[in-house]
Amino acid sequence: MRCGSMPVQSETLRRTGGRSLRSIVFEAETIGARVRELGRQITEAYPDGELLVLGLLKGSFIFLGDLVRQIERPLQVDFLAASSYGRGTTSSGEVALLYDPETTLEGKHIVLVEDIVDSGNTLRKLIGMLESRRPRSLTVCALLDKEEQHPSFPALRFVGFKAPPAFLVGYGLDHAEDFRHLPFIADLM
Ligand code: IMP
Ligand code: MG
Repeated sequence: MRCGSMPVQSETLRRTGGRSLRSIVFEAETIGARVRELGRQITEAYPDGELLVLGLLKGSFIFLGDLVRQIERPLQVDFLAASSYGRGTTSSGEVALLYDPETTLEGKHIVLVEDIVDSGNTLRKLIGMLESRRPRSLTVCALLDKEEQHPSFPALRFVGFKAPPAFLVGYGLDHAEDFRHLPFIADLM
């Protein structure tokens, strides 16, 4: 599902304050089409029961906003926040919960929405914490998956794109809090 890399246009430099990106990896239109498809899949996967879409902050905020508008059944939205990489570009292995969802999880179908799965450490820890709250089901919807970086994940049922082994920014993904607002996903220099 990866679309061809192409040179980043000069108008992008306005958005980044002149900081160069290597290339656009997924164009806004490509992301939009895939998010519509994921919304259709999630709609079909949950014919009954209460559905709670749980966004992992901050990286999922744009993806989640677009995704829930493509899900054509009743649902509720909440968020949780886990610690991030800080200024680095590799996983530290430590995951701390900074914000806990207020909504009850018990008896509900939970779709945990993540921007990108890398080592899978974040998800592994969160899945353990959330399972203990006895949801009816718990699955993960990740926009991007660096699938070579982690063993297979039964809970990872919905994936937007297989991600290349690069550090990606845009459409919610950051580097040191920058670039989240880009409408496309790019490869950092
Ligand atoms: P994991 O715990 O190693 O799977 O890392 C997952 C988290 O690391 C994601 O939720 C992102 O916040 C961050 N991350 C991993 N790879 C990237 C990337 O290429 N760009 C931006 N953030 C990333
Ligand atoms: Mg994240």
